[in-house]
Amino acid sequence: MSTPSLAFTDLGSGRPLVLLHAFPLNRRMWEPQFAALAKDFRLIAPDYPGMGESPLSPTPYSLESLADSIMALLKSMDISEKVSLLGLSMGGYLAFEVARKYPGRLNALILAATHPAPDSEQGRQARQETAEMARKEGLEPLADRMLPRLLGKTTRDTHPELVGKVRAQIISNSKEGVAQASLAMAERRDSIPLLPQIQIPTLLLSGTEDPIIPGMPPEAVQQQIPVSAWTVIERSGHLLNLEQPGQFNRHVGEFLSRV
Ligand code: MLT
Repeated sequence: MSTPSLAFTDLGSGRPLVLLHAFPLNRRMWEPQFAALAKDFRLIAPDYPGMGESPLSPTPYSLESLADSIMALLKSMDISEKVSLLGLSMGGYLAFEVARKYPGRLNALILAATHPAPDSEQGRQARQETAEMARKEGLEPLADRMLPRLLGKTTRDTHPELVGKVRAQIISNSKEGVAQASLAMAERRDSIPLLPQIQIPTLLLSGTEDPIIPGMPPEAVQQQIPVSAWTVIERSGHLLNLEQPGQFNRHVGEFLSRV
């Protein structure tokens, strides 16, 4: 396993907030947060290997090695203070890895549209098929298949321009980068046993129109993390930060101002 170097955005000033993007997007998905949160926080948003502007990993990577790369990135930026982590979906899976391996480096967690369970056997099989589809057919069919699940009905009905924007972002990634990310998610660990050990303030965010997050519902996650709050974002599908940026930014800002 390698620890690849990562392209990133470093914007704003204040306490560091690391933004971990969803699959199969890249760090440009955080544009509404760059605009709203950089006045209060130093935002650090990496691209995963082969997505956005990060080079492909020469070998398959795991979420654990990607967590190492995130910490190596912070070190290379001379950031030694504790950071807050905001991970959406795959970004949340990665945030669990960081919380497991580097608990002393974190002061707060925001877990958006994500969950701690590993994939089922069937889920892993579907990730393999996604990786194969990306490699063989490219990203357009994958984007078209995923978009109705990534964006909620309200967004699809009322913001067609956002559908086009997310599609363009997906197909701008490299095919192999998307395949590798899919396989890294398939191999991720079960983070349910980690939950009671998370001792930092944690905010859970979920959308009322999100069909993607199966398994343990946020209520159950909330009960197992000792210090946590759960907020539901109305009229949002999976990509909460893009679909309801006003509500999303307000919840994140208010939560971080209290920790
Ligand atoms: C994501 O948004 O990161 C993915 O949909 C997560 C997943 O497929 O489990």
